[in-house]
Amino acid sequence: MADEHAGGECLLVLDFGSQYALLIARRVREARVYAEVVPHTITPEEVLARGASGLILSGGPASVYAEGAPRCDEGLFRLGIPVLGICYGLQLACQTLGGKVRQASRREYGRAVLEVAEHGDLFHGLGDHLAVWMSHGDQVAELPDGFDTLASTDTCAHAAVRNLEAKYWGIQFHPEVTHTPQGAEILSNFLYRIAGCEGTWEMTQFIERTVQEVRERAGQARVVLGLSGGVDSSVEAVLLSRAIGERLICIFVDNGLLRAQEAERVESVFREHFRMNLRVVDASEKFISRLAGVEEPEEKRKIIGHSFIEVFKEAAADIEGARFLAQGTLYPDVIESAGIEGGVAAVIKTHHNVGGLPEELGFELIEPLRYLFKDEVRRIGETLGLPREVVWRHPFPGPGLAVRIVGAVTPERLRIVRDADDVLMEEIIAAGYYDRIAQAFAVLLPLRTVGVMGDERTYEHVIAIRCVDSEDFMTADWSRLPDELLGRVSNRIINEVRGVNRVCYDISSKPPSTIEWE
Ligand code: XMP
Repeated sequence: MADEHAGGECLLVLDFGSQYALLIARRVREARVYAEVVPHTITPEEVLARGASGLILSGGPASVYAEGAPRCDEGLFRLGIPVLGICYGLQLACQTLGGKVRQASRREYGRAVLEVAEHGDLFHGLGDHLAVWMSHGDQVAELPDGFDTLASTDTCAHAAVRNLEAKYWGIQFHPEVTHTPQGAEILSNFLYRIAGCEGTWEMTQFIERTVQEVRERAGQARVVLGLSGGVDSSVEAVLLSRAIGERLICIFVDNGLLRAQEAERVESVFREHFRMNLRVVDASEKFISRLAGVEEPEEKRKIIGHSFIEVFKEAAADIEGARFLAQGTLYPDVIESAGIEGGVAAVIKTHHNVGGLPEELGFELIEPLRYLFKDEVRRIGETLGLPREVVWRHPFPGPGLAVRIVGAVTPERLRIVRDADDVLMEEIIAAGYYDRIAQAFAVLLPLRTVGVMGDERTYEHVIAIRCVDSEDFMTADWSRLPDELLGRVSNRIINEVRGVNRVCYDISSKPPSTIEWE
């Protein structure tokens, strides 16, 4: 299990297959208490060894009375550590401790009004009626001995319960979702009033501790890092450079599929501003020649992925004294690859995730961000003084502009899509929309249409503009941008980008469309 990152204070979220287990951990960390998701099979000994201040039992899709339903060790309820059960976690505890759980006569999904009868601990400082979010067909029908009811809804008599002696609290609703507006306060009450947490999860402490750990582990050896210019590898680079300075070697591969000025920007931030040891490898010819004539999107991705590994390997092989490879693995990746049920968070894998490479090159892995959520990575980036544009950068796919040219990639098509993208970015930033949308880019379509410029008929390319709003990139909606902004983007692209005479705006949501066109 993981080592400690919170100066001892730690809350464990037992995962019963909920889509929300990771979200619960995130909310707890937002309340400044370090939290980790652990399998529901964790033993009382392991919990004690972790020095957990409290446990949260997550929700889950099963019925506690169904055969094979996931359970936890009953000993967890006798440790004297406060436990909060959410939904399935509530039902499981009530059933385990002698109560009865049944299918509700009227199922309660979605919004409900919680009537609070007891304001002593979990609902301290909150009103008598709270909007909450429900999502389960079962409910507690009979409470075990020693329990009392703290709150109820129209259709659920025991929507919040507790057993003071057993240090157990349970709620039928989901405090972790935004549809429960006071969920954060309820969780904070559990953490601070009940579990006695102090709120030690601070980014500055994390930075200090990580810097120390990396220094000790790396010793005099060198660490190699694949820098993409994206948020994760950038933050990682600055963090590691603070720990080991010149002994961190960053490799930036210019694959020729980058946006305008991308390589220059990376050089200016990391080499000039942060004075890092940065090697820029210009491999654009290799990538572009290998892509010649290739139209199929997955084939393009494969070629780019393989070429990246080849180029990176070559560049890393001749770094003397290199023993470690740094990877920007984040906490959701760790949960997903650990195979914990319900660890379903969206993971956008890039080809910079150079799986398999470390062993091949004889490197050991360093993953300083492996306990962090994306928003925490951003906070660290800000604390370390990375420019805003880097910390809040939109995601950019590893295969770059190649998947934004529908059909075959040629230097001429790259020029068109790159120039169109540059105009779009300038306008989106100038209009103050960059931070309000999740992603914005231009796509070059594999067709020509007729136009008229001056007195002349033209027969030229079409650019599609794609701007989306999204929380997690699993779902997305097209951004409602002002007409004037879209008009300016279209005018400028047609006037300034040679070879384009038409601009369209993509108004598809995901699903059923994807964000990228390929
Ligand atoms: P889609 O197109 O699947 O995109 O809706 C979801 C998010 O993933 C990004 N994306 C990629 N990122 N390599 C990457 O590193 C890829 O091959 C790739 N394909 C899509 C996309 O930009 C969006 O943020």
